[in-house]
Amino acid sequence: MTEQIPFPSFSVPEDFLWGAATAAHQVEGNNVSSDWWALEHSNSPVIAEPSGDAADHFNRWPEDLDILASLGLNSYRFSLEWSRIEPERGAVSMAAIDHYKRMVAGCVERGLTPVVTLQHVTLPAWFRRAGGWQADGAAELFASYAETVLPVLNEGAEWVATINEPGLQPLMSALHRGDQAALNAWHGGPMPLASDTEIESLITAHRAARDVVRAGTDAHAGWTVVLHDVQHEEEGRAAAEEWFETFEAPYLRAARDDDFVGVQNYTRSRFNSAGEVLPGPEDRMTAIWEYYPEALGNAVRLAKSVVGDVPIVVTENGVPTDDDTERVEFINRALRSLDAAIADGVDVRGYLHWSAIDNFEWALGYGPRFGLIGFDHTTFARSIKPSARWYGELARRHSLALTP
Ligand code: BGC
Repeated sequence: MTEQIPFPSFSVPEDFLWGAATAAHQVEGNNVSSDWWALEHSNSPVIAEPSGDAADHFNRWPEDLDILASLGLNSYRFSLEWSRIEPERGAVSMAAIDHYKRMVAGCVERGLTPVVTLQHVTLPAWFRRAGGWQADGAAELFASYAETVLPVLNEGAEWVATINEPGLQPLMSALHRGDQAALNAWHGGPMPLASDTEIESLITAHRAARDVVRAGTDAHAGWTVVLHDVQHEEEGRAAAEEWFETFEAPYLRAARDDDFVGVQNYTRSRFNSAGEVLPGPEDRMTAIWEYYPEALGNAVRLAKSVVGDVPIVVTENGVPTDDDTERVEFINRALRSLDAAIADGVDVRGYLHWSAIDNFEWALGYGPRFGLIGFDHTTFARSIKPSARWYGELARRHSLALTP
């Protein structure tokens, strides 16, 4: 099947990161001290199913890293679960610290450059109860958590992202308040507006943690920003610009002083004059949004127009599909658009496909499958999809295979 798609040749540098990504709560299982676990067990009508054991990556990470390295990848992005490390305010679990130290070291041993996120969607339940990012002292608490995980990062993390997708945080707050409209917003409808104070509190927390990482490690420090390919019909320009300015631009501007910015792109958003996002052609819709791989190249160009010379890493890009041939086509086309952007001078240092393993897709549960690797929900046995082999071989052909 995948043999029918020839291996394209890209002009990326030899040390380009060819990897895949996950986030703790979406694959580890049993993150019982997180705000999401609480939400999943609150009878909330917006949650399709609880995360439960997820892919049991918490226990099976060595097997998963073995697979990624054997495929030919040279990088793995994952997140540390703050709620495991600090399940109650000020109570640090040394076992959790040790766990993540072994994971970072385990990446390095296998030739996988670790890209580590400090906070990916979930917050400790105690932090959420205290008011989340809006609470008094939130930035200090986040910086203190960053300080706590320095020994983890110093096992060899080369790229560290503080907050994942700050633009989604107001939506998260709405979900946790029980706002049903928030679910629709996540997948296409109007997003809850972030107030200036909300945006400012996220930027302050990011900078506080970034400075801790910079002072205490040799890693590149930044954050990862969701970035749609914003398009518009002639009369939709104002709406498109307003949307970009509200949900994406402030976080990109804040990255101008960072060591890198993570760009996360899945699709495009096309605006009409009424400020609505137009649906894609019916036969080109995925389970969630429009299938439009070329959005990636446009997204990194858009990022560069705001961050200037700050290096970019594509920290997420992928497609929810059960048709694995479609996944190969998606990666191929997305990478072609990325390669063209690189040829035009956009400084992109890596591509981390979302996701390494089929994941808990938040409110949508386990329905949409983004993974290169699948798993059985009872035995947790892994199945390597043909797209994983195709992508791994592509990576191998472009990089020095780093697997020892
Ligand atoms: C998030 C991931 C999520 C992915 C696909 C990103 O917004 O960082 O956690 O699974 O998109 O929806």
